[in-house]
Parts: sequence; structure tokens; C-alpha cells
Amino acid sequence: MVKTIYWENNVVMMLDQSRLPLEVVYVECRNYQTVAEGIKKLWIRGAPAIGIAAAMGIALGAQEIQAQNFDEFVEGLQPVFETIHATRPTAVNIHWAIERIKRFLADHKDERVDTLKRMLIEEGTRILEEDIAVNRKIGEYGAQFIRDGDTILTHCNAGSLATGGFGTATAAMYVAHEQGKRIQVFADETRPVNQGARLTSWELMQAGIPVTLITDNSAGAIMKRGLIDLAIVGTDRTTRNGDVANKIGTYTVAVMCREHGIPFYVAAPLSSIDFTLDSGDKIIIEERHPDEVRTIWGHQIAPHGVNVLNLAFDVTPSRYVTAFFTEKGAFRPRDLRRLGQEGVDIDAIRYVGAC
Ligand code: MRU
Repeated sequence: MVKTIYWENNVVMMLDQSRLPLEVVYVECRNYQTVAEGIKKLWIRGAPAIGIAAAMGIALGAQEIQAQNFDEFVEGLQPVFETIHATRPTAVNIHWAIERIKRFLADHKDERVDTLKRMLIEEGTRILEEDIAVNRKIGEYGAQFIRDGDTILTHCNAGSLATGGFGTATAAMYVAHEQGKRIQVFADETRPVNQGARLTSWELMQAGIPVTLITDNSAGAIMKRGLIDLAIVGTDRTTRNGDVANKIGTYTVAVMCREHGIPFYVAAPLSSIDFTLDSGDKIIIEERHPDEVRTIWGHQIAPHGVNVLNLAFDVTPSRYVTAFFTEKGAFRPRDLRRLGQEGVDIDAIRYVGAC
């Protein structure tokens, strides 16, 4: 499986996904500003992957700080936090990573500045390693909902390219495939940036999973023909009531699934669940540059200057979600909020499903 991001000799190596699938090129990020640029320009994208990039970017920024003591060090980090935080607003993982690093620093106030710099590098790598383990657990729980012979629809790329490891939506597919289940996948191309066409179909082909690429507008017709057994997507931010922000078009897929009686699953690591928000109405939806819609890979396909509304994400109300696949198990939307509470008996609220 191709590595999305890794730390090597004080450099963050970032696979430039904007060039996939034509070229496999790593950008060497030597400072936090380059990491922030990479997040904004979608060299790296996908909620968990940009959370990892945020942590590694902070570690890079930390190396440049000249400080005599803890307070000066943390003060020096403020512009780093702010720059990374301002990159993309919807995926909660960036915020999650920054808050985790702030807590980590607060827990190590007594360390020397040099030690803290080294520890932040280790923490960035730890977040990557944890994500790999989380992906695997999501896959193991999710695969229980996939039967031999199933055809799965997915939207955007919630794949290994969007994470440190197996992906989230794709993790269930990879584990089912490992288990010998004969599955196939329909991948929505996912305009305007075509993560489905460029990334999901590419990585599934590499993994040997049969994949059929479809235009976004085909999904309903294909469901009507009875070709889809279940849908699995990822999420950028899910609120505690189970509303799901994910790539624009996810909402349409969810509604079509309901219309056709198809289960609609969301693979959601706990780092993508925002327990501070009670509903999806409060999620900030990123609007991206009009040229992403007016052009395809630099080629103009619409009149110059035409008005464009380019929403990068939409919010699917929780009532359309059959269940969430997380690293702690599968859960109904109504039980999601309990995952954020102390002392909950997880076994009692797990969703076992029909399989
Ligand atoms: O704009 P992107 O490519 O960052 O959008 C990514 C998605 O919408 C993914 O489905 C989501 O981040 C989940 S990735 C495991």
C-alpha cells in the first residue's frame, strides 16, 4: 500500500495526490508553511491524513523555534497552530490534532525545549501509527457487514490515500477481500476534483479489488437496476447526533440508498467525530475556488467567468445512516453520542446488524 505521508530526517514526505494517478511524486516539506500549502492545495487530503499532516507540520514548525523555556516555546508555536488550523475548515481532524498536541505539551511542561522538539516529532509519528491501527479495526468491524458477492458503492476517496493505512471506507473492503469474500466496488468519480476517478479506482485496482468507475449522476440509475448491495463512505466531521459531513454528493447518495432500501454505512474513526457539536447545521462547509468546477485538470470546460458555487462538502442527516463503522465497533446513529461519554458499556450499544 502506498504511503501517504511519513517523516524522514527532519522532512515530511507527502505524496502529491493532485498528480495521481499519472505520477507518483513525493513533495519534501521542510517547513510548516509547505505542509499548510499541501493541505490547502490537496496534495494531501482526506480527514485522517490531513490530521496527521497537521501534527507533523507542527513538529516541523517546532524545530525552528528559538526559546529558552516552555512558555516561550508555546508562544512561538501559536502562528504554527494558526496557519495549520486555517488551511481547511470542515474536517475536524485538523482541530483534533492541534488540540491533542496542545494537551500533550501541557502534560510535559517540565521538559527542556530540545526534548519537547524531539517529543513532538515522536507524537506526529505516533498519530500516524495509531491511525494505521484504527483503520484496521474499522475494517474488521466493517467487513462483518459485507457478504460474499456484494457490490459496494463508495463516494470520493476514504481510502488508504486519505489516511495513514488502510483507509476507513476502503478498510472494510480490504478486510473483506483478505477474508476471501468476492466483492466488487462502484466508485463515483466525485466531481469536481475527481477523488473517486483519480484515487479510489487507482488504489482499489492496485489492491486487486474489481472496481467500476461511474459518473456521479449514474448512482441512482445503477441502484435502480439492483446492482448495489450497500454503500460505504467516509466522513470529514460527524456530529454527536450522527449527522455526517462528507464530500459533496454524499447526501444525494444517502437519499438514493434510502429510496432503494440499500444500507448506507459511514466509516468514522473517533478522531472524525465532533462530540462538541450537537448537529450538522453547525458544521462549517468549505467553499473552494470556482476554477475547480470551470476546469478539469487545467482544461476550461465552462464559459470564462461563469458564476460557480463550489461547496466541497455536504451534510447527510443521521436518519439516512444505517450504522457507523468505528475502531470501537459499529454503532447506530442514536448511540453515537454515548461513545463520547465516560464509563459507557460499549458492548451493550454495539450494532451487530443483519449479516
Ligand atoms: O476534499 P477531500 O478530498 O479532502 O475530501 C475527502 C472526503 O470527503 C473523505 O470522504 C473524508 O475525508 C473521509 S477520508 C477517510
